[in-house]
Amino acid sequence: MSAHTTVKRVTAPEIRARKGGAPIVMLTAYSALTARLVDPHADMILVGDSLAMVEHGMESTLGATLDLMILHGKSVMRGSSRALVVVDMPFGSYEAEPRQAFHSAARILAETGCTAVKLEGGATMAETIAFLTSRGIPVVAHIGLTPQSVMAFGGFKTQGRERAGWAAIEADAVAVARAGAFAMVVEGVVEPLAAQITQAVPVPTIGIGASARCDGQVLVLEDMLGFSARVPRFVRRFGDLGAAADRAIADYARAVADRSFPGPEHVYKPKD
Ligand code: KIV
Repeated sequence: MSAHTTVKRVTAPEIRARKGGAPIVMLTAYSALTARLVDPHADMILVGDSLAMVEHGMESTLGATLDLMILHGKSVMRGSSRALVVVDMPFGSYEAEPRQAFHSAARILAETGCTAVKLEGGATMAETIAFLTSRGIPVVAHIGLTPQSVMAFGGFKTQGRERAGWAAIEADAVAVARAGAFAMVVEGVVEPLAAQITQAVPVPTIGIGASARCDGQVLVLEDMLGFSARVPRFVRRFGDLGAAADRAIADYARAVADRSFPGPEHVYKPKD
């Protein structure tokens, strides 16, 4: 028998069973490097299509493609061993009809080895979520502020500011849970509505710009580490790595300019 202990990844049923229990910790990662940092601390890693903006400098998430998501998904799987990895289905890869969603999701699962996919949308996506989950594809839903609909929203707008809109957003949450999603991201909704939705659905809610009363929280790693120049109100900067990186790079540039790097300890000597 091998002396190796195989680390078991967190499973979708385990996350589902966390409803109302210990809060679920989720963070994004887009590469093996950042996945290695996040994996020991997080229950779930999200390969979010926010990578289009954060990693590739695009204006919105709309430019992320299936191939791009798969490339980053593979990298994150190589850098993690215990957290459940969820890969976002990018804009245009699932909305047309359930079969399109199945082909895209099957590619993501088969080519990356991840456990689940995430897709945006409420009641209108319920049929698609049911199609996927009944065919063995674990789905995380995403309701409230759905960035792939930023054009229709007219910007990144908090949802539920008017109480008149609450019933429709809660109905979205109930619909995706009924369709079989094992968890749902609730993004950019007013705090009491996020708490009400959490009470109303039998699966974990994972908040971002939502409520501490959600069943878990997710943030974009680069935002909470302090790499992003401007961060929205809902982000707490848990670190200031952007400033630390700037100092280190400036030090390097100075050392190259004044020839103090490389020093004698960094260069190779001949044998004789
Ligand atoms: O793409 C992403 O990073 C996301 C999170 C913000 C929830 O969907």
